[in-house]
Amino acid sequence: MDVKKFDTVEALNRAAAAEIIDAVKGNPELVLGLSTGNSPIGVYQNLIADHRNNGTSYKDVKTFNLDEYEGLDGNSPQSYRYFMNEQLFDHLDIVLENTYVPSGIGDLARNCADYERQIQEAGGIAIQLIGIGTNGHIAFNEPGTSFDTLTHVAELSQATIAANAKYFPSPSDIPNRAISMGIQSIMNARKVIMVAFGQSKAQAIKEMIEGPITTELPASVLQNHPHAVIFLDSEAASLLSE
Ligand code: PGA
Repeated sequence: MDVKKFDTVEALNRAAAAEIIDAVKGNPELVLGLSTGNSPIGVYQNLIADHRNNGTSYKDVKTFNLDEYEGLDGNSPQSYRYFMNEQLFDHLDIVLENTYVPSGIGDLARNCADYERQIQEAGGIAIQLIGIGTNGHIAFNEPGTSFDTLTHVAELSQATIAANAKYFPSPSDIPNRAISMGIQSIMNARKVIMVAFGQSKAQAIKEMIEGPITTELPASVLQNHPHAVIFLDSEAASLLSE
């Protein structure tokens, strides 16, 4: 793992965005893996600013998101499709049909298989942007998830339900399940960029980087990835040994 530490979240966001922008400039048909939640928002703001100011084009870029809640369609403000349109896609020249988010509606097993096939047909993911949960999850791959999982129906842990409660009108509105790219799907990306900031991530980051590779801390699998770059602010890095 290549660990990069930054004094501020702003500097971290700029640096992580620059990696993506450089990759898109180098390959206008790049296949990007994207994520939702608080962690990637600053990166997305940098991509949008660069698109406006420098004209970096996404018209031939394809994107695949990590996950989606069960039962929410793209009209639901809590859905990850809605989040992506609002936080990123509506502000770029990307073609909406080239942006893939798993569907949590209908035949979920079939949606999972379709999603893996679509990733394959696109040629695989070149760069996957991810965050980390305070319990060490990546996407909705909670502690205990097997490392060989592909896109699947995932049960959310109580920790994750609690962490995401702020986005829902009431805790009982939070779906218990989601469609999530699996750990193997994430490991299949040719490069993984993780962004993590804030004290709440420090323990999970320490275990991910310095602890054993274990399904109890799903992100620790990234120790096995040949090209994982971890962008941390000083708080998220605060428990690391060196
Ligand atoms: P966050 O979530 O970016 O909202 O902190 C990250 C995650 O749970 O993967």
